[in-house]
Amino acid sequence: MILIVHGGAGQKKPSRASLKSIEDALMAGYEVLKRGDTALDAVVRAVRIMEDSGHFNAGAGSVLQLDGVRRLDASVMEGAALQAGAVIGLEGIRNPIEAARRVMETQHVMLTNLGAQRIAKGLPPLPRPEEKTLARLERLKKKENETVQLYKEHFSTVGAVALDRYGNLAAGTSTGGTQIMLPGRVGDSPVIGAGTYAENATGAVSCTGTGEHIIRLVLDSVKSSMKQRMDL
Ligand code: GLY
Repeated sequence: MILIVHGGAGQKKPSRASLKSIEDALMAGYEVLKRGDTALDAVVRAVRIMEDSGHFNAGAGSVLQLDGVRRLDASVMEGAALQAGAVIGLEGIRNPIEAARRVMETQHVMLTNLGAQRIAKGLPPLPRPEEKTLARLERLKKKENETVQLYKEHFSTVGAVALDRYGNLAAGTSTGGTQIMLPGRVGDSPVIGAGTYAENATGAVSCTGTGEHIIRLVLDSVKSSMKQRMDL
């Protein structure tokens, strides 16, 4: 059994509090695997703990879009039957990873707007952003380049991948997006095949970084692999 989690991959040394949250997520997720539950259960448990912590750019710690609203993205995928679920731009919900799992249990893969809100009904509400978060947004609006740097250093998407005792893989990712973003912007995290992917025969991946780059890189690698096949 294996569980790997990430709380982003910034340049700055992580704080004690964020390392503790990562440790908590790992321990709790691994307990799930040990008691015989699935890789997907472990991934959701681990990501939820990081969403709840407020130390990452996901769930309670998410950044604001330029209009002051938090619109959260998350996805999950399991590698046995390639079932996947994602929510895009979810407002007011603390644990988008749970909503993504609910989507996976329907016949759909992605829900946005009203559909995402409906499926998340009953999940814990997102707390109000702290005053310092609102003040930071005002400062950041004036300093775009510094903001990009700030994102690289401090703010982190969260994710997990797991292998359970049955040989099945799963992956999950949750994010508040990037620091400076137009309202409605969507990155890689809810995109199955970009931010999250799991297939038992190949592996499981949860990405972190600037979504615009990740989406382009994935498309580029698809193009290279198509070209290789055509050259064979
Ligand atoms: N990787 C998270 C995002 O770009 O939204």
